Amino acid sequence: MIEWFAVDLIKQAGELIRREIDQSYEVERKTGKGDLVTEIDRAVEQLIVHRIQKTFPEHQIMGEEGTADQPDTLTGTVWFVDPIDGTLNFIHQKRMFAISIAIMVDGVVEYGFVYDVMADEMFMARRGYGATLNGRTLTKLHEHHVRDAFLSMNATWVTPNHQIAPEILAPIVRDSVGTRAHGAASLELAWLAAGRVDGYITMRNMPWDYAAGKLLVEEVGGRVVTLYGEPIRYDGKTSVLAGSESFVNDVMKHYVIAKVTAEAKPDLRIVAHETYGEVRDLLVLANPNEAMVREQFEEGRTFRALLGKEIVGAYMLVAREGSRFELVNIAVKPERQNQTIGQRMLQDAVKRATLLGGKELLVCTGNSSIMQLRFYQQAGFRFDSVERDYFINHGYGEIEEDGLALRDRICLTRPL
Ligand code: IPD
Ligand code: CA
Ligand code: CA
Repeated sequence: MIEWFAVDLIKQAGELIRREIDQSYEVERKTGKGDLVTEIDRAVEQLIVHRIQKTFPEHQIMGEEGTADQPDTLTGTVWFVDPIDGTLNFIHQKRMFAISIAIMVDGVVEYGFVYDVMADEMFMARRGYGATLNGRTLTKLHEHHVRDAFLSMNATWVTPNHQIAPEILAPIVRDSVGTRAHGAASLELAWLAAGRVDGYITMRNMPWDYAAGKLLVEEVGGRVVTLYGEPIRYDGKTSVLAGSESFVNDVMKHYVIAKVTAEAKPDLRIVAHETYGEVRDLLVLANPNEAMVREQFEEGRTFRALLGKEIVGAYMLVAREGSRFELVNIAVKPERQNQTIGQRMLQDAVKRATLLGGKELLVCTGNSSIMQLRFYQQAGFRFDSVERDYFINHGYGEIEEDGLALRDRICLTRPL
């Protein structure tokens, strides 16, 4: 019943937009030159809010343009309303924008509607009942990985932002089939649900942008989480990573390797370390050959990373011939990974090796350590040499990572 009310309301709002789109209207800046609101956004939101308030006076409404009072808590029934999602498209292209509405009951989004106004396409989802496009049932999402995915990505990834370092997401652009920045979050999620794109990634969305689209994606078997795999909340801005289960896992496992957390930043200290016992467990995480680790401990210098009093990481520098330093056994405590501690220890190693008169920094890792190979290359290291069967010949036994057997040692260098 409530869904037919919502559909009727959205269709009426769509007609209003189509009627006004070619007329002249006022455009105002909100926070910046790319964040605009027009008279039409406001008029559409007013129409929607007034009809909801008249029919369901006890319901709360969270609308982008603030027509209704923003709810303090998400209790009871809450409507999330974006009267025009993709205002820049609306103004410039006169297409590819949507009305996005979601209905949450007691903290759970039960209905989602995304209406592509100019294409007259109504995407609808009801929790537990699937999703439809103009009445036709949408089928389950196909599984994808980044390498075979056609993606919608908000272009903000190319500029520095608070969520993630651009150089971490750039490889996704390079590795995927293609990327587009379509400029209307709700529609991009709806297209994902309809199989028109295979993933959607953005750094910053508000609940009215994604609440409806997220349900659409979930109802066809997809997953929608933050860039770090956390559940999405509905009380403020968030990053969004959406796609099939395998696509989301692929992005988190192989690309989002560094979470830039404000909390982790302030008190990380990296200091010289003298006793083996305290850092042993960390060092053997990086290299299970403990006899070799001990030897390197005697030979080189060890540093530990501290968050308060907690040792969260360690690494060693060993002098090699020809003004070279080798960085060995860099490790971060498992529960402290993805907090940029590894990057910061690497930066620290570069600084210290330079101060010690080094001209080149060397690191070696295994052929199966895909994350490490990515990590070092992102930090400016280039491939230097390969020693075939090194790990087999040095008694490492059978180790497998990411479906690859550990066999060959790969060394990379970067100038200091
Ligand atoms: C915006 C669009 C855009 C997204 C922004 C949203 P608006 O909504 O969905 O694609 O990247 O985060 O704010 O302002 O056009 O309703
Ligand atoms: Ca929006
Ligand atoms: Ca909007």
